[in-house]
Amino acid sequence: MIVLGIESSCDETAAAVVADGFDVRSNAVQSQIDLHRVYGGVVPELACRAHIETITPVVRKALDDAKAGLEEIDAFAVTSAPGLVGALLVGVSMAKSLALATGKPIVGVDHIHGHMYSVKLAFPDLAYPCVHLVVSGGHTSLYLSRSEIDHEPLGATTDDAAGEAFDKVAKILDLGFPGGPAIDRLARGRDPARVAFKRTVPEDLDFSFSGIKTSVLYRVRGQDAKRPMTLSEDERADVAAGFQEAVVDMLVEQALKACARTGARRLAVGGGVACNSRLREKLEARARREGIESFFPPPCFCTDNAAMIAGLGYHLLRAGRASDLTLDAIPTKSHRPRTVNRNTTF
Ligand code: KG4
Ligand code: ZN
Repeated sequence: MIVLGIESSCDETAAAVVADGFDVRSNAVQSQIDLHRVYGGVVPELACRAHIETITPVVRKALDDAKAGLEEIDAFAVTSAPGLVGALLVGVSMAKSLALATGKPIVGVDHIHGHMYSVKLAFPDLAYPCVHLVVSGGHTSLYLSRSEIDHEPLGATTDDAAGEAFDKVAKILDLGFPGGPAIDRLARGRDPARVAFKRTVPEDLDFSFSGIKTSVLYRVRGQDAKRPMTLSEDERADVAAGFQEAVVDMLVEQALKACARTGARRLAVGGGVACNSRLREKLEARARREGIESFFPPPCFCTDNAAMIAGLGYHLLRAGRASDLTLDAIPTKSHRPRTVNRNTTF
């Protein structure tokens, strides 16, 4: 089954052709980073307009790269939740139009589940059950997955997402947008203990990153947050390294706790922050020590892409979970289990 996947939930317009869930024939991504950089974050209205302009060329590129015509596509998969509603609508409308014009099936795909599936794209032999850590600009969540399409939420951030914290701290440090890669680069080779930040680790499997973001703000701009950013290049690098180390420690701690509590022996990480070099290094080392196998996809599958949507769409269709032309864009979807949150710090 050849599936054309479409992704437009945030600031990447993407389309991909994937055969039988694993064989990635094309993976076209048009990033809007340059458009949003000047504003220091994604501007929803601009994102929607840019998706409208690029969706057709990107779909055409995915078909061309795969050397496929629409007649060879068996079904359409599209991110329908969660994300910016106007942005999602562009992809959903395109997929519905294609399904209507060709008479082929359509399936709506959850973006977060897509990020989990990106690990499977890179490691087709990944077996279940496994714990998934999804760390992106909009989400930070843990799941116990029993198959490609069966995910039980274990915990999630109660405030900022990890990627959002990276982006906001980068803004405080005048490092530009997106902040994750900039902090990762700047922190490389620094001693993270020179500027240490408190780690907040809830007793359950949730996360919280707003405290550390505020600590960085006060550290850099003073207690009233009004002082201009006057840190030297060296000082900025030390703050970046200390911040990154704390975020990585919180992610590693909760992810390994999720494995211990569920008895899972596999830990798969997806989403843009899964590109982070220190997270890869520390999580892999800690998992190995605890006898847990860890899986990180290559960067092109970590950040937003449509191959993960097409691949997961294949499994949903095989499970009889096709949508129809009433498919709608759902901007928010709670992935948090209902638990009481008690924080501890270390
Ligand atoms: O998954 P993604 O492309 O989009 C969302 O679904 O949000 O993730 C984007 C996020 C941004 O916040 C970006 O700063 C972060 O991933 N990111 C990183 C790195 N590369 C991207 N964060 C930390 N270290 C990186 N190397
Ligand atoms: Zn994403």
